[in-house]
Amino acid sequence: MVARPPVAIVVDRMSVDDLGAVQEIERESFTTPWPPNAYRSELENNRLAHYIVARYEDRLVGFAGMWMMVDEAHITTFAVRKAWRRQGIGERLLLALLDLAKARGAREATLEVRPSNHPARRLYEKYGFALVGVRARYYTDDNEDALVMTTQALDGRQMRDRIAALRAAVARRPDVELGDDGLPIRRAGTEAQAQGAVEGGASGGESAGGGRAVAPDVPRPNDSRRSS
Ligand SMILES: CC(C)(COP(=O)(O)OP(=O)(O)OC[C@H]1O[C@@H](n2cnc3c(N)ncnc32)[C@H](O)[C@@H]1OP(=O)(O)O)[C@@H](O)C(=O)NCCC(=O)NCCS
Repeated sequence: MVARPPVAIVVDRMSVDDLGAVQEIERESFTTPWPPNAYRSELENNRLAHYIVARYEDRLVGFAGMWMMVDEAHITTFAVRKAWRRQGIGERLLLALLDLAKARGAREATLEVRPSNHPARRLYEKYGFALVGVRARYYTDDNEDALVMTTQALDGRQMRDRIAALRAAVARRPDVELGDDGLPIRRAGTEAQAQGAVEGGASGGESAGGGRAVAPDVPRPNDSRRSS
């Protein structure tokens, strides 16, 4: 039963006041969460960094970040609170990041993702990211490779049309509906079902540990770890 009115998600800049909630989402999303001070250092010391959050009222339900590397936007981190997944929040965050990247003069956007992270790969593919390379044994917890995915030119016709169509589809989405427990009511094809699918060996599920860029105290994405 729907106990509350539908809710609107707002995308905003991340501030240091958000870091407690960001850590909670980190811990439920990644096997190797960034250390607690990594985000603080990113916000306070890294002038290349841009971090955003998705909020519902006073609750932080997702976040994402990127580094602006000259004319390339490198997405460093991306996660949505488990109970709030499959509600289009990831798409809203990605749209906001791509808008920010374009406004800051990025020619393209790039990122690393685990091959096993099917939800994230699907999201990125939907937004025009394509495989351009592999970083061998990139993730130090289990030595899984990282796939490097990059968009076409952000101001090119294909990306502009794709983003416009996706933005329109997101705008048409109904607002999130909350149940009696104050959490979103799951749609068909939820995270739990996806998890079951991956445990059963099918594709399309959640990976064990998310996987994005390595934490910011290790070499930056344009350093010698880059592979093609
Ligand atoms: C990846 C992640 C951020 C997606 O967030 P989300 O809010 O659930 O995503 P959305 O609801 O906006 O979904 C957008 C698209 O992503 C894809 N997707 C998301 N979850 C999926 C799942 N469980 N299975 C398959 N595809 C999925 C689909 O293409 C979906 O579009 P659709 O609704 O038209 O099918 C979220 O699953 C997450 O936080 N995962 C853990 C952390 C992580 O892996 N981060 C990425 C690091 S590279």
